Amino acid sequence: HSSMGEVWDEEMSSSMLGSRLRKVVQNYQAMNKYNVENTGPGGVASRPKLSGSELLCRLKSQVQVLTLTPDLQPFASLSWSSQLPVKSVTSELGPYKSCAVVSSAGSLRNSGLGKEIDSHDAVLRFNTAPTSGYEKDVGSKTTIRLINSQVMASDEHRFLSSSLYSNGVLVGWDPAPFSANLSQASWYNRTDYPIFTQYQRYRRLHPLQPFYILHPRFEWQLWQQIQDNMVEPIQKNPPSSGMLGTVVMMSLCEVVHVYEFLPSRRKTELCHYYQRFYDAACTLGAYHPLLYEKNLVKRMNQGTDQEIFTHGRVTLPGFSALNC
Ligand code: C5P
Repeated sequence: HSSMGEVWDEEMSSSMLGSRLRKVVQNYQAMNKYNVENTGPGGVASRPKLSGSELLCRLKSQVQVLTLTPDLQPFASLSWSSQLPVKSVTSELGPYKSCAVVSSAGSLRNSGLGKEIDSHDAVLRFNTAPTSGYEKDVGSKTTIRLINSQVMASDEHRFLSSSLYSNGVLVGWDPAPFSANLSQASWYNRTDYPIFTQYQRYRRLHPLQPFYILHPRFEWQLWQQIQDNMVEPIQKNPPSSGMLGTVVMMSLCEVVHVYEFLPSRRKTELCHYYQRFYDAACTLGAYHPLLYEKNLVKRMNQGTDQEIFTHGRVTLPGFSALNC
């Protein structure tokens, strides 16, 4: 029996990164593609640090999980708006008792976590992450798949035709300008990738499969909470799929278990469990403020460091289970 090694340090900062990654992160911290304003107290250490339970309550009160509905402009005036679900995702899905969020990290390899993951009432997976051939480590149940607009638009991933996407509920998202203004001039005609044309195509091919699109306001409300609770300026880009999906599940479930978001003893530079590609940026972040997301999740974790070390498992209460 070996003793427990180091797990994620919630005070992790960009200064602790290797020089290559540190430069990439610093570049994104300085760049401001989405016109982020009012970044608040980031960089100022004067604000008292919130405890895990204070942080959970802050998230519950300041971040609203919302998806696009046909009544919102500019969609309401567009012919295809009737393809959007009538209600936001949280009023149509769940509530679930216990949920699993499966990060796509390479450290899931040889984890043997498949059975445990499948034992949850709902399982969230990301982007192109497969289950077929990896059941022993990641399970086979997919209740929700969160996909970014890059995957939706890519020929390589065959989004419209691959059976990978045809199970469960889909939730798509695209990095929108910070103003979170839905107007044509701001996001609708300037998406990072063509999320809306792909959405319409997919809905025509798979009309019965539920498919939501995240409201950009949710992306940036969550980003603001990450920034407000860090002492240095974070990347001015939306949170990673992993963080977005975790908070989506916190709004649908009584308890959420997140796997290999905070790396276990299997920590590796292997980017994804399903690809032979190595890059520490997948775990530590480059474009996304992933490092700071992990600091926040570590602070909110209600499980033990031992569970992180052996199972890569974090336990978060759902918003409905919080007494704030
Ligand atoms: O790469 P992709 O975005 O599809 O992975 C899903 C999520 O899993 C990421 O957004 C990130 O939050 C998390 N992840 C991670 N470490 C990795 C790979 C993915 O934390 N090595």
